Amino acid sequence: MSDYKKIKEEAIQALREAKSVERAEELRVVYLGRKGVITTALRALAEKSIEEKRSDGPELNAFRKELEDRIKERKKELSFKGVANFDLTMPGKKLKRGSLHPLSIVEKEIVAIFKSMNFSVAEGPEAESEYYNFDALNIPENHPAREMWDTFWLESSQKISDNNFKSSNKKVEKFLMRTHTSPVQIRFMKENKPPFQIVVPGRVFRYEATDMSHEINFHQIEGLSIGRSINLANLKFIIEEFFNRFFGKKLEFRFRPSYFPFVEPGVEVDIKMPGGEKWLEVMGAGMVHKNVLKAVKIDEREWQGFAFGMGVERLAMLKYKIPDIRMFYAGDLRFIRQF
Ligand code: PHE
Repeated sequence: MSDYKKIKEEAIQALREAKSVERAEELRVVYLGRKGVITTALRALAEKSIEEKRSDGPELNAFRKELEDRIKERKKELSFKGVANFDLTMPGKKLKRGSLHPLSIVEKEIVAIFKSMNFSVAEGPEAESEYYNFDALNIPENHPAREMWDTFWLESSQKISDNNFKSSNKKVEKFLMRTHTSPVQIRFMKENKPPFQIVVPGRVFRYEATDMSHEINFHQIEGLSIGRSINLANLKFIIEEFFNRFFGKKLEFRFRPSYFPFVEPGVEVDIKMPGGEKWLEVMGAGMVHKNVLKAVKIDEREWQGFAFGMGVERLAMLKYKIPDIRMFYAGDLRFIRQF
């Protein structure tokens, strides 16, 4: 019906122009209130003929429903203060980007230097068997050298399944949290034919009291180079080249005779910073012991090589002047974000 159409257009127009929730409510009363335009028209319909009821009824009802919705919607729009108060020219909030932990950064630096010297990267498990962590590294049971590594032993009653212990009289294989990355030397040499040179980054565990320079877990990087004529001079060159590049300085070096059951001869490497006074102990190293080569069935008359092991935390502390190893594990973002 044309007069309804006009009313509808007027109502929609008025609603569009309404500038407040109050005005929208006024319009609701005018059209939909008890005495409102549409309410009245609907009531009047009762008096009308069947035909008129049939044609106008649905139209009026649809109109009423539509207007109800539009008023509700408009009220919502008008009561929404957000956009009016929002300053689009304001700078955005800076999102904090995650970053690598300083230990990851230093580990990557160390590995990158060795990769550039033609070492590849190998890894091994943190929970290790006694065989790989000790026996195969020429550290038999009850040997006093085991005391060099305070060990977290794991509970286990696993029966010995492989032939690692064929020669021993053990019945149950014992497991532990590896005390060093050296067991990966054994794992790698069993699986690969020499020549090769690898570095092995990884986490190690020691059953020790913690203090400024000791943690119950820390990280090591193991090195292993096996070839037909690898000698101590090669070890010295690689180590000196590595430390000079890692610290970006020409350092002084000292190779002190030392003892590790899996190398012979064994050395401890000390460095001195240019202009520095103190010698700093930075790694253990040596020529791979023939008993180790025998354990992995590499012919020790044909092959020889060197191995070394260093602590990642210790190097990070020296390079970035970090006073306490526990800072790496305290989870304090003020520390972490400085790197
Ligand atoms: N695995 C030894 C340690 O943790 C370090 C080392 C590695 C020494 C390789 C010599 C050769 O104390």
